[in-house]
Amino acid sequence: MANPKYQSPKGVHDILPDDHLYFSFVKKVVRHHCRRAGFRRISTPIFENVDVFNRSIGGTSDIVEKEMFLFESKSGKKFALKPEGTAGVVRAYLEHGMSSLPKPVELYYIEPHFRYNRPQKGRYRQFHQIGFEVIGESDPAIDAQIIYTAYRINQDLGISDRLKLQLNTIGSMDDRQKYKEDLINFYTGKERSLCEDCKRRMHENPMRLLDCKVEDCQILASMAPKLETVLSDESKEQFQLLQDYLKELGVKFELNPTLVRGLDYYSHTVFEFWNSSQGSQNSTGGGGRYDGLIELMGGQPTPAIGYAAGVERMIELMKEVGIEPPNKDKVAIFVAQLGNVAKKKSLPLINQLRDQGINTVGAIGKSSMKSQMSLADRLGADYSLILGEVEVREGTIILRNMNRGSQETIPVEGIVEKMVELLGGKSLSEKKMWEE
Ligand code: HAM
Repeated sequence: MANPKYQSPKGVHDILPDDHLYFSFVKKVVRHHCRRAGFRRISTPIFENVDVFNRSIGGTSDIVEKEMFLFESKSGKKFALKPEGTAGVVRAYLEHGMSSLPKPVELYYIEPHFRYNRPQKGRYRQFHQIGFEVIGESDPAIDAQIIYTAYRINQDLGISDRLKLQLNTIGSMDDRQKYKEDLINFYTGKERSLCEDCKRRMHENPMRLLDCKVEDCQILASMAPKLETVLSDESKEQFQLLQDYLKELGVKFELNPTLVRGLDYYSHTVFEFWNSSQGSQNSTGGGGRYDGLIELMGGQPTPAIGYAAGVERMIELMKEVGIEPPNKDKVAIFVAQLGNVAKKKSLPLINQLRDQGINTVGAIGKSSMKSQMSLADRLGADYSLILGEVEVREGTIILRNMNRGSQETIPVEGIVEKMVELLGGKSLSEKKMWEE
């Protein structure tokens, strides 16, 4: 419709059937790699008490300052639609006593998220993230494994050649406290050259000033003291070990000392996968360590690390690269019939074919054979099975090869087995997907 009366809200999209082929493929790849690496799936609610996000993501982050969808219950409780997954997972980890589970606790999610930002390509108000969190281990070998899993997912989606892994360390909490003081000293007296956002953030979170996109702020940021100068030996050693492990795993990375990430909970390792043709604006995913977050949320001091990627951004990249996901929706057989007797016989036949895992459509309406064949064509069916009164009487069926346009009349007995054989095991959708 050219101008429909109702449209989806700005920045929010329907996922139409063609896009679901990509979504299903992404989910399948993610599930596969997460399971192989010992993760179990978790879903947290679409909305949480707003404090869960304020406390964890941080009051000076863009997300908390301006991007949350906020609403109030009738009794005045404040909630927010979840803008990211880590805060909710940590809340659930603490609420359900998961700290008593064997460590590390490894969880993954595939969920919608919401951010109220200005919609543009790759930036939406409702988007989906796949993410994983490993709670309870500080060994950089875990950082390397997390990054490797993310890398393997990108590889299986066919997009890893277009992504550059950016890697940095932002040090321990102590390192950052020292660095914060250095930065405040540096910026003091230069406030007039800063944008309004930076002026406001300068005392609370001066590290955010380093990734401000305003030109004057960037010039100052390039002259600001570097974090390396305050990194403790332990932080340096952890970061070096991570790099050694990544090299051992064959994962290429670029060291990026300006990468700080926009959420306050990070410490030590931070990383992002950048689309090499588009820079930071279109990172498909990012993550890092958040060793202080669990304590901040009321738990025991517990190290943790995680990663999340935007499904829409990965799919956009897959399309750019020309990756086509497997089409599990494709109709393999169309069953056409003429007359009531034939229609009755075609109904159980359709079910028998479906039970064998063959996508089958048919026994629809009362149209002529010509229009049924044209529908079979438009659905892209490989074969049509045609039943008329004569065929029912004689115990036969017409098998039409839709690609070749040839047909033959054969006995109806054994037709299901014959179709299984013709389509070959591979083209059959899994018979019992739920047993997978
Ligand atoms: P994030 O970098 O804010 O990290 O988001 C991760 C990914 O979500 C981004 O790289 C991007 O692909 C996608 N994304 C974010 N905002 C939007 C948007 N408005 N529209 C479309 N896609 C978007 C986090 O969310 C952290 N929780 C990651 C993490 C997990 N860190 C530790 N554990």
